[in-house]
Amino acid sequence: MRYGFDAARKDIWKSRELEQALCKRFNCGFAQLTSSGTSALTTALAALGVGAGDEVIMPSFTFVASFEAVLSVGAIPVIVDINDSLTMDPVSVRKALSPATRCIMPVHMCGSMADLDPILEICRDHKLILLEDACQSIGASYKGKWLGTIGDAGTFSFDFVKTVTCAEGGAVLTNDKTVYTNCDGYTDHGHDHIGKDRGAEMHPFIGYNFRISELHAAVGLAQFRKLDNFLSIQKKNHQYLQAELAKISGIKFRTIPDPAGDSNTFLSWFMPTRELTEAVVAELKSQQIFNGNFYWFEHNWHYIGKWDHLKKEKALNRLNEGQSKAIKKLATQDFTKSDAIMGNCISTAIGLSWTDEQLKEKASLLAAAIKKVLANASPQAYYSQQASLA
Ligand SMILES: Cc1ncc(COP(=O)(O)O)c(C=O)c1O
Repeated sequence: MRYGFDAARKDIWKSRELEQALCKRFNCGFAQLTSSGTSALTTALAALGVGAGDEVIMPSFTFVASFEAVLSVGAIPVIVDINDSLTMDPVSVRKALSPATRCIMPVHMCGSMADLDPILEICRDHKLILLEDACQSIGASYKGKWLGTIGDAGTFSFDFVKTVTCAEGGAVLTNDKTVYTNCDGYTDHGHDHIGKDRGAEMHPFIGYNFRISELHAAVGLAQFRKLDNFLSIQKKNHQYLQAELAKISGIKFRTIPDPAGDSNTFLSWFMPTRELTEAVVAELKSQQIFNGNFYWFEHNWHYIGKWDHLKKEKALNRLNEGQSKAIKKLATQDFTKSDAIMGNCISTAIGLSWTDEQLKEKASLLAAAIKKVLANASPQAYYSQQASLA
């Protein structure tokens, strides 16, 4: 239990230690640990005052947690196209603004960053909240600032597939003391955490139990100390793999708004057409080397194309009227622009435990499979790349 039990805990406070370490490493005022990245998003939205009737703009390529968190606070997810950075397209964001817009929630996907300057400009122009979902991108930065610390609040996930994991956990980062105090109470039934008698604490507002446990925080702390080592391994492996794939004419890479700030967890690359992308996926599968590669468009649930449960409003409990109305519109919304990008994209996860030999072997097998597919493709396929990514 991260709060109270002062005698039993013998002055051991692992959650506090990890929160302090996050603040120090990311030069941030406050950090609140949570039970997951999803609960971190929910907590941040509530702490920022986002609720019923408020529209939250989010991208078409993210994890389902984005709309889950928005729905869970009673707000309305408004989903916009991405561009070839694989993050929200600021032009689409502007088009999606309405009098009900309250918050913009860029998602820093696959270890890299959204182009925050134009999004910050929109927030300033329209007095909107910026909540950064940095769940996949701990240790990445944008123009010298750490992701998660640039908006009004930001979130990390420490789940089992993240760079820093504690099995399950998350964090909200903010520089606003009130937002932090809200997070602190919200994740613990609204307790104000004043004084030493937990039973006598006041509840200035309604909260829930989104607490992290001390056990998870202890593991998180040990893992977090390895972050810089993880980042440097990822960078080395990423650089090598990218250099090898860059030799293949026909391959393009994801646009990274600030390449120096990439945390390098994935290398995301584009084939000239969707057909060729599917052919590469099939080739990698037939050689049994697809593992560690992600064709999000077809085979995963990070992309809107696969969110039938959302589009068909398959909720166990009744959603509010505004949410229901928005979801009905979403089911027929045109995502051609996002489809053209995601349909051609494969992301290769960068391993931390690869030996140099394994890295070389993976790169050469991947490159050979891509070349084989391109060698069999009609020249027409190459020329359509520009069009499909435009
Ligand atoms: C972009 C993004 N946001 C939020 C989450 C939710 O994190 P968690 O799995 O810790 O709930 C994830 C997890 O994969 C994610 O990738």
